[in-house]
Amino acid sequence: MTIKEAVMQRHMVRKYIDKTISAETVKQLNERIEKSNTEYDISMKLVTGNADGIGGLAKLLLTRSVYNYIILAGKDQATLDEKLGYCGADLILYAQTLGLNTWWCGGMFNSKAARKQLQNADVRVNGVIAIGYGQTQGVPHKSKTAAEISRYNGNEPQWFKDGVEALLCAPTALNKQPYMVTGDGNKVTLTAGEGHFSGIDLGIGKYHFEVGAGKENFEWV
Ligand SMILES: Cc1cc2nc3c(=O)[nH]c(=O)nc-3n(C[C@H](O)[C@H](O)[C@H](O)COP(=O)(O)O)c2cc1C
Repeated sequence: MTIKEAVMQRHMVRKYIDKTISAETVKQLNERIEKSNTEYDISMKLVTGNADGIGGLAKLLLTRSVYNYIILAGKDQATLDEKLGYCGADLILYAQTLGLNTWWCGGMFNSKAARKQLQNADVRVNGVIAIGYGQTQGVPHKSKTAAEISRYNGNEPQWFKDGVEALLCAPTALNKQPYMVTGDGNKVTLTAGEGHFSGIDLGIGKYHFEVGAGKENFEWV
């Protein structure tokens, strides 16, 4: 499965089977995490065999079956949320290509427990991503239409349409899909509203649009 295929096939999965992620797969995930941490100066971490970073409410209401998670964290900086959204999107889609399922938890997580795992007081934890082998593959989320989240000045090129299609598959907080993407020639602008999750939704959206449209076809402005 390619990352592009993963965009279409990934759905939120909240219940997992009790199957250990193999050492080889853990290594692949850790390498991907390390690469993003270095490139974007952030501090994401995979925690296996432990669900202490998932919030108590989430465990009580939704699942008792999360066995691993990824911590989304980094030094406090203006662009931290967008970076974590972008790199977190890369990870959930990469995980999907490895046969894993994921669940982004930006609200129902235990920041204190996650910070302990990081052993670094100098970072802000923005959320966690549950990861493992799903009991199911999930279902597509209810979605807005392309017309509701996009405008193109003139005749829409195919790459723009493909970008919007991928953007509509992106996970967003409360499934709000707060996006507006506008194109003019090869210049593209993306906004993601102004709420608590707008930075992270923006990063997730940029990653998805790039996968659909192809980075070589346009420039962000
Ligand atoms: C930034 C962010 C925060 C989220 N926080 C939560 C959460 O606290 N609890 C929860 O159950 N789901 C959470 N989700 C999952 C979304 O509800 C889910 O991604 C959305 O409904 C779209 O579904 P999909 O992932 O299947 O595309 C969050 C997703 C994102 C992107």
